[in-house]
Amino acid sequence: MNKIAYSAFIAFLASIGTLVSVQALSSDEADSAGDERDITLDELAEHASAESCWKAIHGGVYDITDYVPDHPTEEEVILEWCGRESSEAWDNKSPGRPHSPAAERQLENYRIGRLVDDQGEPLESADTGELPSEEQDQPMEQEAAAAAPSPAEDQRLHRAMLGQPLDGHYRGVFTDRGEIQVNITFDLRDGHLSDVNFRHLAYRGVDYLTLEEDADLYPVMVQHRRITEWLEGEPLTSIFALYEPERVVDEVDGFSGATLRGAKVISAMRDGLNRGVYSWP
Ligand code: HEM
Repeated sequence: MNKIAYSAFIAFLASIGTLVSVQALSSDEADSAGDERDITLDELAEHASAESCWKAIHGGVYDITDYVPDHPTEEEVILEWCGRESSEAWDNKSPGRPHSPAAERQLENYRIGRLVDDQGEPLESADTGELPSEEQDQPMEQEAAAAAPSPAEDQRLHRAMLGQPLDGHYRGVFTDRGEIQVNITFDLRDGHLSDVNFRHLAYRGVDYLTLEEDADLYPVMVQHRRITEWLEGEPLTSIFALYEPERVVDEVDGFSGATLRGAKVISAMRDGLNRGVYSWP
């Protein structure tokens, strides 16, 4: 009997212990959420060096001092923006190419606060800081209509349309009027593209992959090859740049007849993503 009472007492102590630690954990969380503080452009500007590098990006302030040596470019590229509002740079690694969703997740690890103006009002970015606050509160649809970014740059479109596909090997096709025009294969690793290849590329009965160099349509095949090279190593969202092929190939309209159809390539790649992983790496 004593034994039973003793076990019950130990079980009681254990459950109290669990309750106390759950409580401690949740107040830790509350503390870290509470750590978020208001930071003005003046305070931001005090952290403009490799020793202390803060950046404001879309309303958040990030202390990326520890990350600078790990960034996949020369340090100067990223140091140049320390102490500054950097949304523009973040959205345009090179013109029209935003950072990947994986980079966005990484960025969140460095968040220390939110950017505010001298009155303590949140600043979304250098530009919107000048908007009256009612305008900042307008619904997303209206904001989107006002800004109207191109499909190559619209990050909302990218996120909504791609989700978080798994790493693996993909195959997809674009078919029109009963003809397979594009059959493309590609690998995804950590959200980045590799081994992008056309298995089939045809239009109105012409098989582009077997064209001789002196064929009239040969340059079109070269343009499509250029796409596969351009996509190599890029984050998946870069496929949307193909809506504007001039970002990717020279002389888009320099050839008579059919020219590069970026939209068909996007469609084939998204078909592959919809089908899911074809085989695992
Ligand atoms: C705001 C100034 C920044 C500039 C100008 C900048 C620029 C660049 C450039 C030029 C690349 C080249 C590689 C490529 O073409 O994909 C790149 C890639 C990358 N950057 Fe930055 N970067 C900035 C800030 C950051 C920050 C703060 C982080 C994370 C904390 C970050 C994370 C990455 C990652 C993970 C990549 C690999 C490609 C990707 O995932 O998009 N960058 N960045």
